[in-house]
Amino acid sequence: MIDERRFEGLIEEDEARGSFRVHRSTMTSADILAGERARIFDTCWIYVGHASELPKGGDFVRRDVAGRPLFMARGQDGAIRTFYNTCTHRGATICRQAAGNAKVLQCFYHAWTFDLQGALVGCPDEASYGGSFDRGEHGLKQVARCEDYRGFVFAAFRADIEPLERYLAGAKEYLDLVIDASEAGVEIIRGSNHYTIRANWKLLAENSLDGYHALPTHETYFKYVADLEKDSGKAIETSPTGAATSYLTVGVARDLGNGHAVTEKLAPWGRPLARWSPLFGEETRVDMEQARAAIVARFGEARAQRMCDNSRNLLIFPNLVVNDVMGVTVRTFWPVAPDEMRVTAWELAPIGESARLRSKRLDSFLTFLGPGGFATPDDMEALESCQQGFRCDGVEWNNISRGMLREPRPVDELQMRTFWRQWNRLIASPLAAPV
Ligand code: FES
Ligand SMILES: [Fe+2]
Repeated sequence: MIDERRFEGLIEEDEARGSFRVHRSTMTSADILAGERARIFDTCWIYVGHASELPKGGDFVRRDVAGRPLFMARGQDGAIRTFYNTCTHRGATICRQAAGNAKVLQCFYHAWTFDLQGALVGCPDEASYGGSFDRGEHGLKQVARCEDYRGFVFAAFRADIEPLERYLAGAKEYLDLVIDASEAGVEIIRGSNHYTIRANWKLLAENSLDGYHALPTHETYFKYVADLEKDSGKAIETSPTGAATSYLTVGVARDLGNGHAVTEKLAPWGRPLARWSPLFGEETRVDMEQARAAIVARFGEARAQRMCDNSRNLLIFPNLVVNDVMGVTVRTFWPVAPDEMRVTAWELAPIGESARLRSKRLDSFLTFLGPGGFATPDDMEALESCQQGFRCDGVEWNNISRGMLREPRPVDELQMRTFWRQWNRLIASPLAAPV
């Protein structure tokens, strides 16, 4: 039996035999979830949002980040800060709208007022506190650290964490491939998806990088696209059938350090960035050729080909996924219980993209990865089914060994092992005093 209080023995790895097992209590135990909050969500850089969501001074967005109510705001000085969403008087939430622009935020309870840099600038009947009251001591509290990597804003709850860029390690290269899509950068398109999955949050970390499940779980979508292509009479160079076969053999999977991992492969179909497919319609062809030519001019043929033609699924440990596929979906998720997670997803796009391509991108965002699309309901069904399976209790271990004894491919499980090894390092580590 596992002693859950010590969080040890949850993973068994035997490299020589090519065997990697994860104990299923990791998905069901409330003690382990409490351990994850303290040892993982409170010690890693956690994604908050994107700088493009706050174009002007005074802009703000409210966020739950790993279960904590926070908000991110751009001050009149241009800097982005992340605050705990609680009044320093007696606790009420300060930022009550999902997003907006304001000179000040006023607490609705007793009307203390704060500017968007967090300073307390108004306190009704302040004199009643006596002369010792110091506004400077009652500004909104910021999270310990808030940094961005080329617009991707992360927060950390401990001051002694390593710099964000070092934490991101090899994941930076893959963010760059997305961010460099346009000379002007990328932006989050307004609006987001929110949904709940009745499954442990780590199942989505696994699933987001799991090439092995794509064909069996998403068979309906593969058939749908194959039919559309057949109807259009102009299948692109990689036909769905060809893609289905090559899916099992092509592409790479990489451990990017610090628990981050990626899969990359030739996209089976079109990508609104600049890989045209008949399904996008003849009218988008010129837009895409122009977009592609601009990328080739900036980066050369080889890198442009990688940016335009390859799909990537990137996991930034612990809970940020960038699916750079038919569009670019950024999603984050966190546990509310051992068997339940909340998911938020946004669509990222090159700034200055033509309206025609933007509409194809949004269509892809909804059609495949949206909560009512072809993929996400299938994935949710699979994840919730695993969670139900764990309730049997009769089988203790999950097997995540696939491809251990060969050069890893996207259909192997190196990606998940990368996640789990880091998870295990952190969960088994002694809890350091907060800094
Ligand atoms: S709780 Fe905010 S002003 Fe009192
Ligand atoms: Fe899936």
